[in-house]
Amino acid sequence: MRSFIDIPDFSKDELLDLMVLAEDIAQSPEKYAESCKGKKLATLFFEPSTRTRLSFEAAMLELGGSVLGFSDPDSSSASKGESVSDTTRIVSCYADIIAMRHPLEGAPFVGSLSATVPVINAGDGGHCHPTQTLADLFTIKREKGSVDNLTVGFCGDLRYGRTVHSLISALSMFENVKVVLISPEELRLPEFIRKGVLEAHGMTYRETRSLEESLPELDVLYMTRIQRERFDDVTMYERLKDSYVLTLEKLNLAKRDTCVLHPLPRVNEISVKVDADPRACYFKQAENGKYMRKALILKLLSKESLSSTENNEMFESEKHYCANPKCISKTEQEITNYFIKDKKDNIRCAYCEVGAIEKED
Ligand code: CP
Repeated sequence: MRSFIDIPDFSKDELLDLMVLAEDIAQSPEKYAESCKGKKLATLFFEPSTRTRLSFEAAMLELGGSVLGFSDPDSSSASKGESVSDTTRIVSCYADIIAMRHPLEGAPFVGSLSATVPVINAGDGGHCHPTQTLADLFTIKREKGSVDNLTVGFCGDLRYGRTVHSLISALSMFENVKVVLISPEELRLPEFIRKGVLEAHGMTYRETRSLEESLPELDVLYMTRIQRERFDDVTMYERLKDSYVLTLEKLNLAKRDTCVLHPLPRVNEISVKVDADPRACYFKQAENGKYMRKALILKLLSKESLSSTENNEMFESEKHYCANPKCISKTEQEITNYFIKDKKDNIRCAYCEVGAIEKED
C-alpha cells in the first residue's frame, strides 16, 4: 500500500501521469463521477484550512465517494491526549483513505506507519505540503506548456513556507529549472532543501533580497505569505510581515507571460489590483488543486497502489536525536527514532528531515 507523504514518494513519470489524468478529469468530469462509489475519505485537519480540506472533500464527492472527518482538533480525541499513531490506526477502520494536516513536522508520516489505508500529507508544520505542489505543477504545465526549462522565483517566507519546500523538491526532477530565492535573511530556505535538494541535484540557484531586480528574468513567480503561526518571536514577524508586496507597478517589471502563483491564503503580499492581470494564475491554481487531488485519490485507491510494498530506506539509531523542537518525534508516545541518509551522507530525521545530532558518549 502506498501513501503520499512527500514529493519523492512519486517518480517524475508518476507526477506526469497524474497531470495527464487530472487534465482528463478537468475536461470530462462525468467519466469519473462514480469512480469512488462506496469509498470514504477521512479528512483529519489538526490545523485550519480552506482550499486543501474543501478541495479534497469536493474531489471525493465528485468521484462518487463520501467524506467524514474533523476540521477542529479540539472536537477530536487528540484533545484528550490520543496519539497521531492511534488516531490513524482507528480511522483506518472507518475510511478507505486519509488526508491529514498537522502542525507538527512529520505527523502524517507517523500516521502512515500505523494506518492500514493510504495516508496523504495535507501539510505538516513548516515541513512540506506535497498536494499543494501537485496543484502548482499542474498550473505551471497548463500555463507554460511544460515544467522544464523555466526560471522560477520564490518570494517571501522560504523558511517556514512548506509549499516552497515541496515545489522545489518536485522541480529538482525536471530539466534545466533555475531557481531564484527572494527572502529576508531571517527567512532563507532551510538547509534540508538548500543542501538536501538544490545542491544535491546540482540545480542552478541564487539567493537575493530584491524582488524588483529578479522580476525581469522570471518565467514563474511564486509569492508566499509570511507564516505568522510558525514564528516563535512575534516581534520578528511584525518586522518581516510586509517584506514583499507585489503591486501592478512591480509586475510591470516582469515578462509579459510570467505566471504569478501563490498557494493562498494571501494577506497583503499581492495587491488585489494584480488579480485582473492575465499573469495572475493563483485562483486557477486553487481550482487545479481539486483536479490533481481527484487524480491522486484515484491513484492511491488503485489496485496497483494498494498492493504495492514500499521500500523505505530509513534506519533506527540510538546514537542520534532530531534537532527540531517542532518534530512529531518530540511529542508522540514511544516513537521509534528513525533516520535517513541524504545524497551527501548527512543523517537527517526521517520524520521532519532536519539534520540529526549525534549523542555524546
Ligand atoms: N494552500 C493551502 O494549503 O490553503 P489552505 O491552508 O486554505 O488549505
